[in-house]
Amino acid sequence: MLSKLENVLNDAELDLAKVNDLNALVQLKANYLGKKGVLASVMSNMRDLTVEQRKEIGMRTNVIKNSLEEKFEAKKNQIEEAIINQKLQNETIDVTLPGVDFSIGGIHPLNQTIMELEDLYIGMGYTVAEGPEIETDENCFEKLNLPKGHPARDMQDTFYINPELLLRSQTSPVQVRTMMENDGKPIKIICPGKVYRRDADDATHSHQFMQCEGLVLGKNITMADLKGALLEMAQKMFDKDRQIRLRPSFFPFTEPSVEVDVSCGMCGGKGCSTCKGTGWIEVLGAGMVNDNVLRMSGYDPAEIQGYAFGIGVERITMLKHRIDDIRNFYTNDVRFLNQFKEVK
Ligand code: DAH
Repeated sequence: MLSKLENVLNDAELDLAKVNDLNALVQLKANYLGKKGVLASVMSNMRDLTVEQRKEIGMRTNVIKNSLEEKFEAKKNQIEEAIINQKLQNETIDVTLPGVDFSIGGIHPLNQTIMELEDLYIGMGYTVAEGPEIETDENCFEKLNLPKGHPARDMQDTFYINPELLLRSQTSPVQVRTMMENDGKPIKIICPGKVYRRDADDATHSHQFMQCEGLVLGKNITMADLKGALLEMAQKMFDKDRQIRLRPSFFPFTEPSVEVDVSCGMCGGKGCSTCKGTGWIEVLGAGMVNDNVLRMSGYDPAEIQGYAFGIGVERITMLKHRIDDIRNFYTNDVRFLNQFKEVK
């Protein structure tokens, strides 16, 4: 019987050496060590033995069983390791292969202009303020000196949500919001953002566009300060040789009001088709904040005065890049947008 046991061990070792997959290994283990396996069947003959023999055979059987279990476990580890190695080998990356070309987006030209304006004005001590696109009639018109029924409301065809709420038609209501929060104290802000008007879209009109409002309030602020701030803007946004010209105009929220022209970059001011022969191009509206506007938002015009301006972001961007149709900004044609990418 002892020799039978030794044979089991030898046979198992030989069979183990041949196995190289996990399923076969499980099967083999069951054949040798399972309830109905080879070892169990040898053991079933134990009844015919003497007590002494049983003791000896029993001990030997245990040793063989333990040894086989260890060998099966070692084999299992070996097979698993081989599988992992094979997997790693299949996943090897050839670093000399050309990379995958994934294209990234760029910053929209209008946002580029806003970022430039922000840089420029922050450099002059302004902070950036924001307000909601859904505004009250009060902030967008009434507190800007445009009471209900004022004829100047016709200048801005507005999308109303209800009689008191609207899609803001200008960024000027952010002036009102900031004044209401500042308790009569000095202010120096720009407010870039989207605005909406009930205009039919064409080459120069869009029902949604962008403005950048500016408001500076403090002691002894004059029209000369306004002109300085605008000249700085024109020379930084376009080029250092640009001049500006202020023409009298009307806005209900400023008095006096001006329309601001920049000298034409195409002809240097001599007159060409871009500037329609005048040498100047209109870029924004501005003025000294109307006393009524100051009073309505808690400011005393005898103490604090200031100026405001409203820049058309599309207009500046179109002039800068010689774009002739505002719709290009909103139709998302990548052939157009790609021209403004920093990394192409
Ligand atoms: N809100 C005006 C518009 O949309 C632009 C404007 C003009 C803003 C003069 C101002 C200003 O702050 O002083 O047409």
